[in-house]
Amino acid sequence: MTTIGILGTGHLADFLIRGAAPHGYRFIVSPSRRAASLVCDHVTLAPSNQTVLDQADLIVVALPARDGLSILQTLRFRPEHSVLSAMAGTRLQPLSQAVAPARARCTMMPGHANAYGVGPSLLYPPDPAWNAFLATLGPVHSFTEEAPFVTATAFGALSGASFFLIETLADWFTRNGLPEAEARRLIAETLIGNATVVLREDLPLAAITPGVATRGGITEALVARLREADALDAWHAALDGVLDRLGGV
Ligand SMILES: NC(=O)c1ccc[n+]([C@@H]2O[C@H](COP(=O)([O-])OP(=O)(O)OC[C@H]3O[C@@H](n4cnc5c(N)ncnc54)[C@H](OP(=O)(O)O)[C@@H]3O)[C@@H](O)[C@H]2O)c1
Repeated sequence: MTTIGILGTGHLADFLIRGAAPHGYRFIVSPSRRAASLVCDHVTLAPSNQTVLDQADLIVVALPARDGLSILQTLRFRPEHSVLSAMAGTRLQPLSQAVAPARARCTMMPGHANAYGVGPSLLYPPDPAWNAFLATLGPVHSFTEEAPFVTATAFGALSGASFFLIETLADWFTRNGLPEAEARRLIAETLIGNATVVLREDLPLAAITPGVATRGGITEALVARLREADALDAWHAALDGVLDRLGGV
């Protein structure tokens, strides 16, 4: 039985606990407005952030990204601690300084999908104990270099934005007469199916698209309208903005 301490008991903490608890992990969490509602046989509420550190060696940091490092600097870490930051934009060096003499690691994940064990996680640098924990939440992508890790962390925003895309699409189908539950299922099944193709096909993406867009057909027409409205290229510009905030290189 491994105990994980969590600093910052909000939405992400809730998702991680739901995903990892069935795999034997136990948690001690810092106080927050949400924390008391999470207490159960596998979740203990600590009276302070420092108590979390005193009672666990593996520490997940899910504090607000803006204040996280300064909150960590007020705490006393031990050499036995291993600290995994899930805060968007965390870089290894400032994190290592804030939690010294503890070991520091960085991660990113979608959040809600991790509650169901199907959300991919990033890990930098590689670490067996954190790999084992994250593997209970979905596939793990380990990085040995920081620059590609930082670029990959933009997928956290992409993941969240995909819910807004799904909501927008469901809204269109519903307005046009499909029951909401049917629209929701149809969109989700379509995306799962196409994601399965992308995972399983050996063909390059550019070789898959001609096969799904019949010449003169409805897919070609839809994609042309989206391109006219810059709706596809807009993803590049928006992700550039995310990467700027994440301090990409
Ligand atoms: N949500 C996601 O799916 C997701 C996914 C990947 C990464 N992340 C990262 O995870 C972090 C948390 O995100 P979130 O969505 O879970 O935010 P959230 O729901 O606002 O949770 C943050 C928690 O930190 C607590 N907190 C604030 N100041 C604190 C302090 N000084 N000491 C201890 N706890 C403190 C807050 O408590 P109060 O509520 O009592 O103020 C709140 O419960 C962010 O850095 C974000 O980038 C989130």
